[in-house]
Amino acid sequence: MKAHIVLLPGDGIGPEVVSQAVRVLDAIASQFRHEFVYQERLMGGCSIDKCGSSLTDETLADCQAADAVLLGAVGGPKWDNPNAKDRPERGLLALRKGLGVFANLRPVKVHPALIDASPLKPEKLQGVDILVIRELTGGLYFGWPKGRDVKDGRERAVDTLEYYDYEIRRVMELAFKLAQGRQRKVTSVDKANVLESSRLWRQIAVQVGAENPEIALEHVLVDTAAMRLITGPASMDVMVTENMFGDILTDEASVLAGSMGMLPSASLGAGRVGLYEPIHGSAPDIAGKGIANPIGMILSTAMLLRHSLGLETEAVAIEKAVDDTITAGARTADLGGKLTTTQMADEIIRRF
Ligand code: IPM
Ligand code: MG
Repeated sequence: MKAHIVLLPGDGIGPEVVSQAVRVLDAIASQFRHEFVYQERLMGGCSIDKCGSSLTDETLADCQAADAVLLGAVGGPKWDNPNAKDRPERGLLALRKGLGVFANLRPVKVHPALIDASPLKPEKLQGVDILVIRELTGGLYFGWPKGRDVKDGRERAVDTLEYYDYEIRRVMELAFKLAQGRQRKVTSVDKANVLESSRLWRQIAVQVGAENPEIALEHVLVDTAAMRLITGPASMDVMVTENMFGDILTDEASVLAGSMGMLPSASLGAGRVGLYEPIHGSAPDIAGKGIANPIGMILSTAMLLRHSLGLETEAVAIEKAVDDTITAGARTADLGGKLTTTQMADEIIRRF
């Protein structure tokens, strides 16, 4: 197979982990006789510096024309001025919107050998395997009106939490579809006791649930869900929630896996192109040191092969190599070890 992949290394540790993902892809290409053609582009803070915009029209068009997009991370203290016209994160949101990737899949699994790396009690972590599906192109991140003004002599800031029925339905349907191949349980997370948008969310969850009677559906309020992730994470299978709740809950859930550096993600939509990125950010504190954990990025690459290219065998080969590497005791600094980013990738690649 020949595939065309846009690379967006971005800022901070982004370039360090993306370069390891490319090594992994090259190893897969030679072993399974594929051809991956890369196009590297700027996005985020580096793009503000060089092109005057966090995401240029040309880069978005290149991403839209690709088979898949692999993204490192964006942002950093250099671009944190609250009064700046553009921010690295704006580019990321525009990219998600521009690709129409409304569902962000964030699998959270606990490797048995990493149970000790998590601050939670080992018995809570046994058998944890959650697929969080975060709605990605709606809600507070995108609702209008949004902005700052002065009203009645007071400085005011507004964000709007808005959802249309179709936006909820399509992500809910995907959650039920993916639950088919798993434990057949969907936990829909909302704040229906307070928010109107959550009442619509729950109404549609009930409708889609009725259309899929073989799947168990439960509704959990977001504050309770935050607690359940710590007190009983093994009781959850597929969790589906709106954009901002999903952002917050997946950072929390990453603690179960021992380190945020472990978690991959895939963003999918109705269109052809998928966007793949680790859930960790640009980690400015360790950027440039070569010590970042590349596993979240490498597992995102496996998700790319599975979801965008239909290469299941190759995806499993990467996931198994990562599992075996962890079992063998290889650890980067975030997991209490000494391996560099490159050494960790070496350990994974030699196990294909
Ligand atoms: C994430 C990140 C982003 C988000 C930021 C960088 C805009 O936190 O992917 O979880 O909030 O979506
Ligand atoms: Mg986040």
